[in-house]
Amino acid sequence: MKRRDFVKGLLVASGAGLMSLPKAGFAEEAPAAGASPNMENAPFLPWGYVELDPEEAMKRGYLGYFVGECSAGAFWAITSLLREKKGYPYTLLPLPTFEEMVAARKAHHHLPIPMKYGNGGIEGYGTICGALNGAACAIEWAVGPKLGKKIIRRLFRWYEVTAFPTPLTNEYAVNHKFPVKGKWDKPLPSIHCNSVLCHVVVSKWCSIAGFASGSKQRSERCGRITAAVARQAVILLNAALKGELEKVFPFKVSNETASCRTCHLKGKKFEQGNFARGFIACESCHVEDIKAHVKAAPLPTAFGTNLGTWMGAAAIGTVAGIGAHLVATNIGRKGGNDEENKG
Ligand code: HEC
Ligand code: HEC
Repeated sequence: MKRRDFVKGLLVASGAGLMSLPKAGFAEEAPAAGASPNMENAPFLPWGYVELDPEEAMKRGYLGYFVGECSAGAFWAITSLLREKKGYPYTLLPLPTFEEMVAARKAHHHLPIPMKYGNGGIEGYGTICGALNGAACAIEWAVGPKLGKKIIRRLFRWYEVTAFPTPLTNEYAVNHKFPVKGKWDKPLPSIHCNSVLCHVVVSKWCSIAGFASGSKQRSERCGRITAAVARQAVILLNAALKGELEKVFPFKVSNETASCRTCHLKGKKFEQGNFARGFIACESCHVEDIKAHVKAAPLPTAFGTNLGTWMGAAAIGTVAGIGAHLVATNIGRKGGNDEENKG
């Protein structure tokens, strides 16, 4: 039995426990060694990219969410399009077809799509948003780590500054322009959460919007976000293909993060603050720490106007508590927006 036929068979099998069945079914085709014969000759990554339609990716992100949740949904949206538009080696991936996905959704079944583990911030743990995780994997798979890093950091930053669900995905859901029905077809409040973390964005959104985290509205929200993330990933990939990444989405962290990163970035100078790393929006968590730092340097222009101003003043030596001599050596060093920095 061909794997495809098996999946189709599954979709009509009434009440079949899909999660346990495919394992046996897929194993039927697998050779004794366990690996697919084709996969044995799979080329090294990256597998390449051809221009895709962002709207198509958005629709597939939505469909993918309802059949495999956020992470697998975003991964499938991009890689299934690449399989259709580019073909080999994406033909080696164990991905359901568009039609199988639509049928699965209609039967309210989930399918075992790669990257399923990323759901709910990795198996519900609440860390990185699954849509970002799945999209990031597809991006690096397609273009490799060097260009992938530039695209992925931009995707993450875009996510931090965007209010979700986006008006476009709300509109698609309300007007039934997605390939399948979701869980709720009314507009949902677009809320800016300034974080890439599942726990933060879900908790913030639910408490402000007034929906429980186990509600269909919250789930629908994540479906629309998966759609928006798949779309944005393709917009960035297309831009990268044309060498227009910086034009389409200039990489710019928040002012706060840029100023924190004057000292707190991946580096070797421990005493200067190089005991932290990351481009993640510092101000989304370190509110009290920011106040404390500012208190240590009580300047009239302190926090609230422009932290950069305070940092500038700190650098000329008025700062207490941080150590002006340490700070001074950092003057002129590129902090926040130096995307070549390791993080
Ligand atoms: C001019 C360099 C510099 C900048 C800019 C800076 N820090 Fe620090 N920070 C330090 C140093 C050095 C320490 C450790 C020594 C100390 O506690 O004074 C520190 C300590 C901390 C700590 C540990 C707790 C504490 O208060 O001791 C946190 C958290 C922190 N910084 C967060 C931030 C955040 C968030 C920003 C951006 C708003 C920021 N820092 C900006 C140099 C800096
Ligand atoms: C999602 C929340 C979150 C974000 C975003 C975040 N941090 Fe933190 N950070 C923490 C937590 C939690 C700790 C551990 C604090 C503790 O246990 O005292 C920490 C620790 C630190 C420390 C060491 C604190 C210490 O006690 O010495 C520094 C410095 C720091 N963060 C700086 C930053 C900077 C700079 C950014 C932005 C690039 C940032 N953080 C973004 C939550 C966050």
